[in-house]
Amino acid sequence: MSGTAATRKVQLLDLKALHAPIRDEILAEVTRVIDAQSFIMGPDIKELEKEIAAYCQVQYAYGCANGSDALLLALLAAGIGHGDRALTTPFTFFATAGAIVRAGAVPVFADIDPVTFNICPDQVADVVRKCPGIKAMIPVHLFGGAANMDPLMKVAAERGLKVIEDGAQAIGAEYKGKRLMSIGDIGTISFFPSKNLGGFGDGGAVTTNDEGLAQRLSALRVHGSKKKYYHEWVGVNSRLDTLQAAILRVKLRHLDKETFGRQKNAEIWRTLLAGSGVTLPVVPDYTTRHVYNQFVIRSPKRDALKQHLADNGVGTEIYYPLSMHEQQCFANLGYRKGDFPESERAAAESLAIPVHSALPKEDMEYVAGLIRAFSA
Ligand SMILES: Cc1ncc(COP(=O)(O)O)c(C=O)c1O
Repeated sequence: MSGTAATRKVQLLDLKALHAPIRDEILAEVTRVIDAQSFIMGPDIKELEKEIAAYCQVQYAYGCANGSDALLLALLAAGIGHGDRALTTPFTFFATAGAIVRAGAVPVFADIDPVTFNICPDQVADVVRKCPGIKAMIPVHLFGGAANMDPLMKVAAERGLKVIEDGAQAIGAEYKGKRLMSIGDIGTISFFPSKNLGGFGDGGAVTTNDEGLAQRLSALRVHGSKKKYYHEWVGVNSRLDTLQAAILRVKLRHLDKETFGRQKNAEIWRTLLAGSGVTLPVVPDYTTRHVYNQFVIRSPKRDALKQHLADNGVGTEIYYPLSMHEQQCFANLGYRKGDFPESERAAAESLAIPVHSALPKEDMEYVAGLIRAFSA
């Protein structure tokens, strides 16, 4: 809580409050790295990679510069390039579709399931049947909830597609008891500060259980080189900084507590907002662990609701206001407004409200009161 109703401020994400209890622990690690002066690919990188692999229940994990590059590295490692098509959701952060173009391939979209915001397996099956040349699919585990992986993996197996799980928002989430980023061929993670495991700057990682992909992924982020100055592939410079790795190692030790706080707040929202006139996020049975990177409600009067909350000091965000197929830079793909109606409706109705673990219950009661008053 901060102030009286008139001056009260509720932030969407309060990083200062989240970091306060672990500040000294982090500063000690930062000091250690500064003293060691091993800023590029220092020992913390390997340690973090082992810890991330264990946390995601995979054989291999590799750090990289950010979650966007993680997607690019995944596509390059999977051999997706010029002349190929890769299928993904139109309702995602730009990086998912952007990475496909950066790899030299062409994005193809399939509409979402309106209940989960994630790509709809029936739509995927339909698009894959009709559109030749699709070599990979990138399901996104949006907002911290799982895409419906079993039917997606079935389509991929039938059609020989590589599956890259975009888990930028979903570290620690589970599908039918399995950690996300351990189900497809490759998983990608973002350590952007707003993510549940957020660094103090950019960062990302890739995961896999396949030894051949692992070798390519680890080399591609250092210019495609396994041995210094000898290059098997044309890769990129996309390393995670040692400093970020050291910070992330501390934060990883606290990640389950953060996730638990988010889950608890999601349940409080469900009670506070029941019958309030907004649609609450649905968690299907197959998402056995939702990590609530975002708590996203829907309202047909979303823009007015956002303004009403802003007028009363409450931070919210629209994830995402314009679907990928309507982005100017993808006009050449030939899609039109109306092609993915569920994605377009989600873009018009969705609103993320605060859910982080340091959010006081009084702030949630205040926000719920505002939402109820708006709907009345
Ligand atoms: C779904 C999704 N994919 C990819 C990314 C890209 O991650 P980064 O910002 O670390 O490059 C993000 C980050 O916002 C994301 O939300």
